[in-house]
Amino acid sequence: MRKRILSGIQPTNKIHLGNYFGAIRQHIAMQQEGEPFYFIANYHALTSVQEAARLRDLTLDIAIDYLSLGLDPEKSVLFKQSDVPEVTELTWLLATVTGMGLLERAHSYKDKIAKGIAPGVGLFIYPVLMAADILIYQSDIVPVGVDQVQHIEMAQDMAGYFNNIYGEVFKRPEAKLSSTPKVPGTDGQKMSKSYKNTIEVFAEGNILKKAVMGIVTDSLPVEAPKDPETNTVYQLYSLFVSENERREMAERFVAGGYGYGDAKKKLLQKVDEYFASAREKRKELEKNRDYVEEVLRKGGERARNEARQTLSKARKYCGID
Ligand code: ADP
Ligand code: TRP
Repeated sequence: MRKRILSGIQPTNKIHLGNYFGAIRQHIAMQQEGEPFYFIANYHALTSVQEAARLRDLTLDIAIDYLSLGLDPEKSVLFKQSDVPEVTELTWLLATVTGMGLLERAHSYKDKIAKGIAPGVGLFIYPVLMAADILIYQSDIVPVGVDQVQHIEMAQDMAGYFNNIYGEVFKRPEAKLSSTPKVPGTDGQKMSKSYKNTIEVFAEGNILKKAVMGIVTDSLPVEAPKDPETNTVYQLYSLFVSENERREMAERFVAGGYGYGDAKKKLLQKVDEYFASAREKRKELEKNRDYVEEVLRKGGERARNEARQTLSKARKYCGID
């Protein structure tokens, strides 16, 4: 039996290098291994985007991004989370077997509150909706960046609670990290749509230049030897280049006489080249929104058929049918 691969991404802003190297790149690579399900988590996004037109635009944008970056709708099922409303019902069923303590331990919730985001109920129970997303498709593997691993462990716990009480309904999912699961942002912290420290995948021209040139570095003079390992420009550059090119830049930094400005220019050129063909494809797809809508519609139907089966079993096992 083929493994079910599933992952989601929130349409809260434009996608960035962290999303690509942490998640999307491996999502696309995994198309060869099975029939993956990838969805745009618009229910989740409601915890931060509360403007209907913007949410609609961002949702379609993510679909266009995936297709431009190589998602093949013949191999993968791409859909909107909200086209499977069954996940919200399963969220409730899972909530009734989950303790407050589990959710109170969520790092991502605590980090968001620490950053001044209002502690809403939706944000608090976000991991329950995410568990429903995963469990409803009987997912085996969930490819994500490192920040999402705890949420997947919570989904394992919730599957266990439900199965223990009512009988085996859910499979135990496993997280899968990419080889670059934590991409730093322009300020050196984790790159994130909510931290204003991103380099967008589809940025070009001056906007891209500004983002790359704005990477925060220390103030060592050009002559000084520099440690590549603590240096964001070098870490980002490493994502794009061969082992030889990576070593060459590391040696230059260590030798001294090599400044951050020069390294940023090299990085800029690499980012620009790496995504050039995807950018062109994106411009084409932008003109063909009906096609993208159709891909999502078909994907939604396919996903919903799967979800109905699990939900109906879960309802039956807990006495709601
Ligand atoms: P963001 O944190 O920017 O809002 P999302 O939460 O929508 O991004 O994440 C979408 C996917 O991208 C998830 O699998 C997440 O783990 C991954 N991801 C996000 N930021 C990074 C990063 N800086 N490094 C690696 N992976 C990341
Ligand atoms: N919470 C994830 C994120 O912010 C998005 C997401 C929602 C997801 N449901 C999911 C990821 C299910 C994997 C599986 O990145």
